[in-house]
Amino acid sequence: MPVPDLTESPFLAACRSLPHDRIPVWFMRQAGRSLPEYRAVRGTGSILQAIAQPDLATEITLQPVRRYGTDAAILYSDIVTPVHAIGFGVDIVPGVGPVVEHPFRTTADLDRLRPLDPEADTPYVLATVRNLVAELPVPLIAFAGAPFTVASYLVEGRPSRTYTNVKTLMLTDEPLWFALMDRLADLAIASLRSQVEAGASAIQLFDSWAGALAPAHYERYVAPASRKVFDGVCDLNVPLIHFGVHTGELLGAMADVGADMVGVDWRTPLDVARTRVPDRCALQGNLDPAVVIAGWEPTREAAADVLRRNAGHLGHVFNLGHGVLPETDPGVLEQLVAWLHEQPTGTR
Ligand code: CP3
Repeated sequence: MPVPDLTESPFLAACRSLPHDRIPVWFMRQAGRSLPEYRAVRGTGSILQAIAQPDLATEITLQPVRRYGTDAAILYSDIVTPVHAIGFGVDIVPGVGPVVEHPFRTTADLDRLRPLDPEADTPYVLATVRNLVAELPVPLIAFAGAPFTVASYLVEGRPSRTYTNVKTLMLTDEPLWFALMDRLADLAIASLRSQVEAGASAIQLFDSWAGALAPAHYERYVAPASRKVFDGVCDLNVPLIHFGVHTGELLGAMADVGADMVGVDWRTPLDVARTRVPDRCALQGNLDPAVVIAGWEPTREAAADVLRRNAGHLGHVFNLGHGVLPETDPGVLEQLVAWLHEQPTGTR
């Protein structure tokens, strides 16, 4: 089968603030429990088992592209896939999230974080990527968890509201903290490089929980490792996206570590976000996912506000401010994509 020509992709153009002929849109968690076709094929058990089946993972990645006509696909995998694959002892509990049997606490735990050999440790991820790039009409986004967000699961042992254990480690044992961040940066680099070498066309680094940090702590304890990740993949020449939630005060720092585009959640209006990043940096976002649940009219109004605040800027990819919520009516997202594709694109 001929590989589709992606040179005209509005998504890839907008990531680089270049002209494009329709407003590009995709949704974080576009594949997942909001889709009846996902629930029909997903099966029970840990999502990590579903990710390890290339035919299933391929089908699940394609489902939202088929249904919505989104301008990009995101690989069906998870940010803990690499640490799981090297045997750190992490599982994803449905309704909870990543849970670690023996949390990371001491220098001895560094030995549990050996380097990732993607061909040997995550062959199923690469098989899924290769399947997808042969079939997809749109770019495939590779992704990894940023060192801080992955560390938050490894140190806390489960999803946390306060991040007290991970912050305590950061603030009381700098050598161990930086060693941990360095290992996690290497894992992210190896995973991302392998996904792009297998055919993915863009990268998103998820630092979902970085917004829990004071800006000074972000700069000192987190930014160097995230910069290492971006430095380690920039020669691949694919757009680099950097995303987190509650990161209004961190947007400038998150751009500065080497991102071409920064994700913005709904708490920061796009016009305000624009003043916080350099001119070269594009923005992705930022409709509140809860608004979609309120129905089409509120969704259309909020989406129109996003476009108004973007004010015709070329560097904008439409997305939600965080992932699609499980109770979302996919019909509203279908309407949203169709509506966005009828709107005029950016010009400046
Ligand atoms: O469309 C997509 O975005 C699909 C691929 C994807 C998943 N996880 C699948 C998934 C991506 C990009 C992720 C990344 C991820 N995983 C992040 C960063 C993105 C974000 O939401 O900020 C984080 C923090 C995780 C960790 C994680 N994995 C959580 C918190 C959960 C939810 C647990 C639950 O059951 O509510 C998961 C599980 C998970 N990963 C699901 C999906 C579709 C849930 C559904 C399932 O188990 O089938």
